Amino acid sequence: MGVEEIKQVMETFSDMCDQAKACISGKPYVSSPYDFTKAAESVAATETKAQTAQEGHAAMDVDGCSSEELKAMVATCSKCRLAQGRHHAVYGEGVVKPLVMVIGEGPGADEDATGRPFVGKAGQYLDKWLAPIGLFRDKNVYIANIVKCRPPENRTPEADEIASCLPYVKRQIVLVEPKLILLSGATAAHALLGRLEGVGRLREQTFQYGSIPMVVTYHPAGVLRNPELRRPVWEDMKRIARMLSLPIPGRG
Ligand code: URA
Ligand code: SF4
Repeated sequence: MGVEEIKQVMETFSDMCDQAKACISGKPYVSSPYDFTKAAESVAATETKAQTAQEGHAAMDVDGCSSEELKAMVATCSKCRLAQGRHHAVYGEGVVKPLVMVIGEGPGADEDATGRPFVGKAGQYLDKWLAPIGLFRDKNVYIANIVKCRPPENRTPEADEIASCLPYVKRQIVLVEPKLILLSGATAAHALLGRLEGVGRLREQTFQYGSIPMVVTYHPAGVLRNPELRRPVWEDMKRIARMLSLPIPGRG
């Protein structure tokens, strides 16, 4: 609102008050001679300041920021509706310059409660996939998600939520500098590959994020529900091991 508009609102309100006062007291109505210009200017200036701050935050470019800065931005982010229900935004964690950066879908209840990625049942299962090929979170793995805040009832994040959050994980990849990216589940695969085929198709191929190879596999929560997927996941782990020249158990 401009100064004139604000002034008009103030004058109208003041007038209404004067009329009410006159009505209650039974005295004749006299319009207040007060000049609202100064007050209106002050309100307009405050409004402009707030707007500039908001635009500055929205335009704050993730490019060029450090991981500490990025983490702080995520912690206070309200770019999408998922901010409303969260207890903790889950930034991601692990080793920098890891062999593998795993990217999942988004926090579940355990992650939302602790602020840490993949700590629930699915996360513990994911650890069991990685350990046999020598991958460990405290040694050579980094773990993150596509959306940083928990969707209600663990529903799949919606397209606009993914679009709002995607710049964070993209910057995170650049900062983390993994040797290989493992996209776990359809949400991560579709978001970062921009392709909509099923995981069954996508896992047969290798993609690139700049110079970093990207591989797709199923999501541990999906594999827990469907044990038939355990074999293809193990095939994917062996493929990753080959790509990274890691020893594969059971091979002499
Ligand atoms: N599922 C995910 O995709 N990410 C988590 O962090 C936990 C469960
Ligand atoms: Fe921000 Fe991502 Fe959380 Fe949405 S999900 S509020 S974009 S951090």
